[in-house]
Amino acid sequence: MKGILLAGGSGTRLHPLTLATSKQLLPVYDKPMVYYPLSTLMLAGIRDIMVISTPQDLPQFERLLGDGSQFGVQFTYRAQPTPDGIPQAFLIAGDWLGDSPCALALGDNLIFADQLNSTLTQAAKRTHGATVFAYQVRDPERYGVVAFDNLGRALEIVEKPTAPTSNWAVTGLYFYDSRVLEFSSKLQPSPRGELEITDLNRIYLQEGSLNVERLGRGCAWLDAGLPESLLDASSFVHTIQARQGLLVGSPAETAFRMGYISAEELKNHALKMSKTELGRILLNIAKSDEEIPRPLA
Ligand code: G1P
Repeated sequence: MKGILLAGGSGTRLHPLTLATSKQLLPVYDKPMVYYPLSTLMLAGIRDIMVISTPQDLPQFERLLGDGSQFGVQFTYRAQPTPDGIPQAFLIAGDWLGDSPCALALGDNLIFADQLNSTLTQAAKRTHGATVFAYQVRDPERYGVVAFDNLGRALEIVEKPTAPTSNWAVTGLYFYDSRVLEFSSKLQPSPRGELEITDLNRIYLQEGSLNVERLGRGCAWLDAGLPESLLDASSFVHTIQARQGLLVGSPAETAFRMGYISAEELKNHALKMSKTELGRILLNIAKSDEEIPRPLA
């Protein structure tokens, strides 16, 4: 399965923070925002990843992430000339994607959950249909919203409803089968002039092949699209890391735990950041006497 990391948009809801830089490069505590969804894709077992951003921001992503070898993955970069909606990513990636199944992660979404590795690898293994994740929020009108029937089956999915029929928001992490390009090419722009990811998901829902995994109360899903949510995400990462001494959203750690890079490679990566707490934690992980990398819980 291939992966797309979508880091486009003009970040207008974060101006002036995003006047001179991309939203997805802003810090979420001690890492650039894009590290978090990148770690999520890697945790799903995905190593062939296209990074899509605006023509002006794409060089900064290349500078940050390189060819992917530091994380044992491969990055391809492509520009989104105009922000015409999330599923446009599949059209931009079309020739690279071919008829491969694909996961898409939005560059401003952070998911933290127990057993995330097994949840994601299961989603990546499904060869038919799509998988999305739903999370209960206080303000569903800001998101794509999914409603369920009494048996817990997804009934309808609506983008930013003014009168939401449930509190379950659809997160910015999507897994699609090999028909995603074909289905995306059929989409028409919505009244706000964009191709909508919710319309793509509805195609799968209508043919009965949309799996909606509900993330329970033990999970955290944060999007960092507003000043307040950016601060919340940073505080969350700081709280977990300071309390447990474990990292949240580190592609280097994920690469090591997943067996994409060796302890030696992790050590070399960590040494470049030895003045930081992040570097010190990574160094300890590399030095720990675990001979065999353990998959993340
Ligand atoms: C987008 C999607 C929405 C989804 C959200 C998750 O919204 O359109 O369905 O719930 O991402 O972050 P946007 O961030 O473009 O407002």
